[in-house]
Amino acid sequence: MAKFKAKVNRNIISCRKKQQREAIFKVYKDVIYAVTQGKFLLVNVHEIYCYTDEGVKLAAVNIFTNKDVGLARQITRQVVKDVFPEYDKIQKILLCVSEAATNILKHAGPGQLIIKKTSDDSLRFIFNDHGPGIDIEYLPSMLFYKGFSTKTSLGYGFNLIYSIVDKMILSSSPNGTTVAFDIILE
Ligand SMILES: Nc1ncnc2c1ncn2[C@@H]1O[C@H](COP(=O)(O)OP(=O)(O)OP(=O)(O)O)[C@@H](O)[C@H]1O
Ligand SMILES: [Mg+2]
Repeated sequence: MAKFKAKVNRNIISCRKKQQREAIFKVYKDVIYAVTQGKFLLVNVHEIYCYTDEGVKLAAVNIFTNKDVGLARQITRQVVKDVFPEYDKIQKILLCVSEAATNILKHAGPGQLIIKKTSDDSLRFIFNDHGPGIDIEYLPSMLFYKGFSTKTSLGYGFNLIYSIVDKMILSSSPNGTTVAFDIILE
């Protein structure tokens, strides 16, 4: 009987902890969404499929080594060169692709970039990996402080991407991370 009670108590504690984590996640999600005026969307691992499954796939690149960052840039250039005539705009998009792809290699191990055209006429760049994930407690610092890093890096990449793109979507867990960003087609 005592063993049974102990097991029930453990289950109640773990259930409460799960509820607390979900409540904290929702607060982060809502506050970041409001502060960024709807530009940054934090979603859970189930919701992310609504954003990654949508649209028409234009290209995909596996990111395994530094050389693949160059390949991701090359393929991105091919996709964007006809839709964005301005050199500056293309360079900015390429910079975002470099930063997100480098983050995969630096913080997660191998991953993939998928480029899609969404139904609301944006290009969506989706970066997936199976790394250790991003602690959501770091998210405000990553977005709003230039120079925040968990490694001995500059900590500019995430903030830079956020400042350039039209929309950013993030889902992260200890099983991996998906960072997606949208560039509205003109
Ligand atoms: N794909 C990822 N998986 C796990 N953690 C990540 C991932 N991308 C970013 N991070 C975390 O977010 C932090 C901020 O990323 P950011 O790109 O801004 O800085 P950095 O990569 O550390 O430095 P820099 O980009 O200037 O070289 C990283 O230090 C890392 O902890
Ligand atoms: Mg980086």
